[in-house]
Amino acid sequence: MQSNSGAAFIQRFLKNPAQVGAIAATSPAVSRRLAEPIPETGDPLVVELGPGNGAVTEWILRRLGGRGHLLAIEIDPVFAEMLQRNYPTLDVAVADAGDLAKLLADRGLGTVDAVVSALPWTTFPDEQTRRILRALASSMSPDGVFTTITYTTARMMPPWRRVLAALNDTFETVEPSRAIWANLPPAFVYEARRPRRTV
Ligand SMILES: C[S@@+](CC[C@H](N)C(=O)[O-])C[C@H]1O[C@@H](n2cnc3c(N)ncnc32)[C@H](O)[C@@H]1O
Repeated sequence: MQSNSGAAFIQRFLKNPAQVGAIAATSPAVSRRLAEPIPETGDPLVVELGPGNGAVTEWILRRLGGRGHLLAIEIDPVFAEMLQRNYPTLDVAVADAGDLAKLLADRGLGTVDAVVSALPWTTFPDEQTRRILRALASSMSPDGVFTTITYTTARMMPPWRRVLAALNDTFETVEPSRAIWANLPPAFVYEARRPRRTV
């Protein structure tokens, strides 16, 4: 990643705080934890939602080690351009995460093995959260895994409890990690498995 990526991140946050949802990129400790459930063998199809300028992407690519395929879906064209510059061969879509099914179909890609997200869920209206989660559930394989992040500062607040309810409606199991202090702010990684097809 480029040395000015921290300043670029803050600039995007100041431009659109609700859409970016964080003042700093995700730390290596949290990024590694987000990428950990990606299968360590085979050629998994992995989707990253809201890659920004690539803090988590780097750890997903390390985990894949050249295997499989990573589709990165970023709504902000400026972030998407930075990401593509940092990772010239990466499959980057400038799109809304809720359009996942169409993006997969357009590319002729099949069912998704792992989805990794640092989307700012607590800033989304409930219907937007549920639309994105429905798109995931309908695109993932039955043993697929979804990881996402929330901050310790947000975890007990009503907006995250609403997101958690939507996660529990979408997946049979939803488990938080222990708090990871090496992040600004400290964070939890939630791991969700067994998507429900009926949501
Ligand atoms: C908290 S930042 C995370 C950036 C980076 N993944 C990281 O962890 O440092 C949230 C990212 O989600 C993107 N985003 C917000 N809403 C989105 C949506 N509906 N679809 C795709 N990306 C979205 C933002 O533009 C931003 O890049």
